[in-house]
This record gives sequence, C-alpha cells and structure tokens, in this order.
Amino acid sequence: MEHAASRGSFSGRLGFILAAAGSAVGLGNLWRFPYLAEQYGGGAFLVTYLVLVVTFGVALMITEIAIGRRTGKSCIDAFLDLGEKYKIIGWIIAIIPLIIVPYYCVIGGWVTKYCVEYMSGMGSTLANGSFFGDFTSAALPGLFDSPVIWFVIYAILSVAVVAFGVQKGVERMSKILLPALLVLLVGICLYMLTVDGIADGLKYYLVPDFGDFSMKTVLGAMGQLFYSLSLAMGIMITYGSYMRKNVDIEKSAYTICLMDTCVAFLSGLMIVPAVVVFIGPGLSSGFGLMFETMPLVFESMPAGHIVGAVFFLLAMFAAWTSSISLAETAVSIFKDRWRWRRSTACVACLALILALGILSCLSFGPLADVKIIGMGFLEFFDFITNSVLMPIVAILTCIIIGYIVKTKFVVDEIELSGRFRMKPIYNALIMVVCPVFMALILVSGLLSYFGIYTI
Ligand code: PFF
Repeated sequence: MEHAASRGSFSGRLGFILAAAGSAVGLGNLWRFPYLAEQYGGGAFLVTYLVLVVTFGVALMITEIAIGRRTGKSCIDAFLDLGEKYKIIGWIIAIIPLIIVPYYCVIGGWVTKYCVEYMSGMGSTLANGSFFGDFTSAALPGLFDSPVIWFVIYAILSVAVVAFGVQKGVERMSKILLPALLVLLVGICLYMLTVDGIADGLKYYLVPDFGDFSMKTVLGAMGQLFYSLSLAMGIMITYGSYMRKNVDIEKSAYTICLMDTCVAFLSGLMIVPAVVVFIGPGLSSGFGLMFETMPLVFESMPAGHIVGAVFFLLAMFAAWTSSISLAETAVSIFKDRWRWRRSTACVACLALILALGILSCLSFGPLADVKIIGMGFLEFFDFITNSVLMPIVAILTCIIIGYIVKTKFVVDEIELSGRFRMKPIYNALIMVVCPVFMALILVSGLLSYFGIYTI
C-alpha cells in the first residue's frame, strides 16, 4: 500500500489549514447559513451555532483528521486498517463525494455564469424575475446561456487543479483563493454597512430572539454545522492523510472551524440586512436567495452591479475550493484503491462528474419529469447524501472510534503533535453526545422530508 510520503502532502500547517478551510468555506456558508440564521431567531442561532462548533464540530473534525493522518490513507483503506469488516463504512463514505461533486459542479456552473454576466455589465438581465428559471431549465437559446456549458467549464476547472497534485494544485490554489475571498467578503460587508437604513436590517440579523429558540434551532445549527465543516464525506480523512506529523491537529481544527464560522457570519452580514432593507424581511430558502433575491438587491442598491460582480466572484472562489476538495477526495480513493496514476484518476473523476452531473444539470428542464421518491435528480442527490448517508457515516464513525477501536487511537495521534486540550470531554462527545445528536438529525430530517412530522 502506498504510504503518506509517496501520496503527496501539504507543505505545512498553513497549507493544510487553508486547504481544509477552503473545503469548509463553500456555498453552504453563503446561501444556507444566512437563511437558517434568519429563520431560527438571528442572534440566538448564531450563539447556538458557535457553541456547537467549538465542541461537537471540533471533536468530529479532529477525529476524521486523526484517522487520516494515522493511517496515511483515504477513506476506504483507512477504515480497512481499522478492521476488515469496517471496509464497508469506508465504501459508504467513498460514495458520498462521488455523488456530491457532480451536482456541486452544476451549482458552481450557475455561480460562474452569474459572475461572468455581472463582470460583462449584463447584471440587469439576472434581476429579471424569470431569468434563473429560464437559465436552469435550459430554456434560453444561446450556447453560453446553457447551464450545461457552465457546468462543464466549472467541472474542468475543478479537476484541473486536482491534476496538479496536493501541493502544486490544491494547496497553491487554496492559498490564493481563500485569502482573496476573505478580502472581497470584508469589502462587501463594509460597503453594506454604509447603505441607508441598514441599522434595522442589522438588528434583524444580530439581536437574539430567544422566543424562536427551540429544539429546531439546535438541530438546524447541528445539521448546518456538519454540512458546512465538510464532515462525514471523507474530505477531512483524505486531507489528514496529507498532513505532516508535526502539525498540531487540535489547533488546526479550531482554526478551520473558526474561519468557516467567521465566513458564515460575515456572509449573513453581507446578505440578511441588505435583503431586509431592499426587499423586506423573510428570506427565501434554497437557491432563490442567492440567484433570485440577491440580483434584485444589487439592482436596487447604489453601485449594485459592482457589488454583484464581487459577490459572485467570491461565491465562485468559495465553491471552487470546496469542489476541488471533493474532487481530490474522489481522486485519492481511485489512486489508493486501484493504484491509478493521478492523471488517470483525474480523467475518471471528470468522466464521472460529467456523466452524473448532467442528470442534475438537466433536472430543472428536459429531465424535470424524472423523479426519484418524488424528487428531481439534484434534489435527490443532495437529500440522499446530506440527510441520509452523512448522518449515518457520522454515527458509525463515532461508534467505531468510541466503542470498538477506542478513542486512544485518536488521542495518541493528536498527542504526537501537541497537548490535547479537549481530552477531558472528548470521550463523552464521541461516545454519547455526537451519536445521539446525529441520530436525532437523521430521524428528524427523514420525518420532515416526507412530511410525517416536523419538530
Ligand atoms: N462545506 C462546503 C460547503 O459548505 O459548501 C462543501 C460542501 C458541503 C459541499 C456539503 C457539499 C455538501 F453536500
């Protein structure tokens, strides 16, 4: 079996942190977090989210990174190292990025299209109420108005970075894109603060409304947390396997979680108050917020087209580093399992993205009538990974590490590179708190999806 040294590695702590944070900071921070924060009581949600991230989120992330670094392998082989019969869990994890990366590239393609439109001065077209629907349903005539073209361009861009390898591709791009994203994000936030009447919008976003606080707030925050931190999809195991032994796992995990949370918070700051001022309270959920509401906001605000261009550029950077991490995880699985060369694995990964992604890409237009358990392709792929497979993987990982392999496996790896400050509560988190909450997320997600019961 290939060992870590021959598989490539990050150059050091900064490289690892920026790549992992780049993975975590994604579209989830931009369109999912602001909407959830608004729905679940503003500041009350922010406080709940923060508490959960520094306990639960960090514990899960540490566990995945440690499994990767200790075994020096990607998910299937890493779980095989834990015991022959756990290979199946590795396989389930391996399927997750393979399902997610194609549809993530479809959404990445939409973002790229919007970015190019704003940059070429055509932003007003996007604010026309029917544009998003017409574009995603492939109803527009021009070649560059087809979602398929943008999906293909975006997929090639993502896999091309992975083809350059861990340090020269993934790490180098993350070192450019993530800082650039932060600068653009802070820039827009500062600009938003100068908009007339923004104080009311800010109050709406920031003042805690504990009247709205319920079990739903906690479950909503928990679900968002493991989506946003790129947990339970093999990414942190893979990135851990590229991490040098002298890098402090715990400190790195805190830094990654903190960066991800800051970006989520700032995204809310950039989006929620402006929507409240220009459109009114009550954010739309899902894609509508980013692709329909935001263009309307940019249309109404001074210098809106410039802000729009910057907004979609930063969204593209956020999406790009995430899809790179998903593609790298898929490629590392092909490489480790079948000993393929990186170039072969990249070609296979691109072929898979194109074959599977086209279904999602057309699921709002020509394939709109094809339904799996009542959902279109994109919605189904998102549901089956985020609401079913990922919670199951998280529960199984906790059970294996907590009860079978024992937490010493993780603790020893972390103590190789520093003091493990969370140690006193780590066992309780991994053996009890995490699996119980994950089970609650799984059950409540399934029940509410099928409209049986909503907490
Ligand atoms: N953590 C990233 C995001 O928040 O967008 C990446 C990601 C998470 C991609 C979950 C896909 C996914 F289902």
